Amino acid sequence: MRINFRIRRYNPESTEHKKPYWQEFTVDNVEATDRVLEVLHRIKWEQDGSLSFRRSCSGGICGSDAMRINGRNRLACKILVRDVVEDGGTIQVEPILGLPILKDLIVDMEPFFAHYREVMPYFVNNDPVPEDGRERLQSSEDREVFDDTTNCILCAACTASCPSFWANGKYVGPAAIVQAHRFIFDSRDQAAQERLDILGEENGVWRCRTIFNCTPACPREISVTRAIGEVKLAIQRGSTEGIIHPDTIPAKQGHH
Ligand code: SF4
Ligand code: F3S
Ligand code: FES
Repeated sequence: MRINFRIRRYNPESTEHKKPYWQEFTVDNVEATDRVLEVLHRIKWEQDGSLSFRRSCSGGICGSDAMRINGRNRLACKILVRDVVEDGGTIQVEPILGLPILKDLIVDMEPFFAHYREVMPYFVNNDPVPEDGRERLQSSEDREVFDDTTNCILCAACTASCPSFWANGKYVGPAAIVQAHRFIFDSRDQAAQERLDILGEENGVWRCRTIFNCTPACPREISVTRAIGEVKLAIQRGSTEGIIHPDTIPAKQGHH
C-alpha cells in the first residue's frame, strides 16, 4: 500500500514556524497489518529524523503513545493501518488535546500526572501486618468490584478527549478518577473517604457532565464513565457501601 500521512508538527526552536503546522509524508510498501506506530517510525528513520513522538513498549502496555489519529485518541502501537485508511488514503496524526505541546506529537504530561497524584493513587492500610505473615486477603467478589479500573495504563487518552477537561484544566479528569476508583472500592483500603472528599470538591467528579467521550477513547476498554458514576454515587451517599456489587454489574456491553 501507499499511504499518505498528515502530521501536526511543532518545534519551539524553529525560526521558520512559530506555531504548529501540518506536514505531509508519503510512505510506500506499507502492509495493511502494519501498526500506525511502525509507519511513524519509518517516516522518522527514512524521511525526517526530527519527527518526535513518545513510545516505549509497542505493545499497548506502557501508555506512552496516545495520539489523535483521524480525530480519535488512540495508541499508535495498537492501531492497524487497515483500520484507519485504505490504499492511497491519508492518515491524520496530531497530539492529544488539552495538554501543552512540547514538540510534534509529544505533550507535557505533568499537568495530567499532577491530577493523578491529587487523588491518593496508592493503597492505604494502617493496620498491623497480619500476624501469620500472609497477605491481606480479599474475596474474589470484593476484588471484582474494582477489577475494571485496575487495567488503567495512564495513557491520558480519556482525559485528553474530555471537553470538560479542555474547558478547564483544573478538572482532575477521568483518568485520575479511574485511578481513585481502583482504591476507593478496594475492601482492604482505608482512605476511601479521604479520596471521596477530594473528588467531591470543585474540580473533582462534578465537573464531569457525562459527555461520554472518555469511554470509547480508552484503549483498555475500561467503563470509564461508569466508574465516574460510581464515585459520584458514593459521594452522594457518603459511603461506598451498596453502590456496586458483582451481582449488579451488567455484563460488559462494549463501548457506550
Ligand atoms: Fe488510558 Fe483508559 Fe486509563 Fe484513561 S482510563 S488513562 S484511557 S487506560
Ligand atoms: Fe468528560 Fe467522560 Fe465525563 S468525557 S464529561 S469525563 S463522561
Ligand atoms: Fe507502549 Fe504504545 S508504545 S502503549
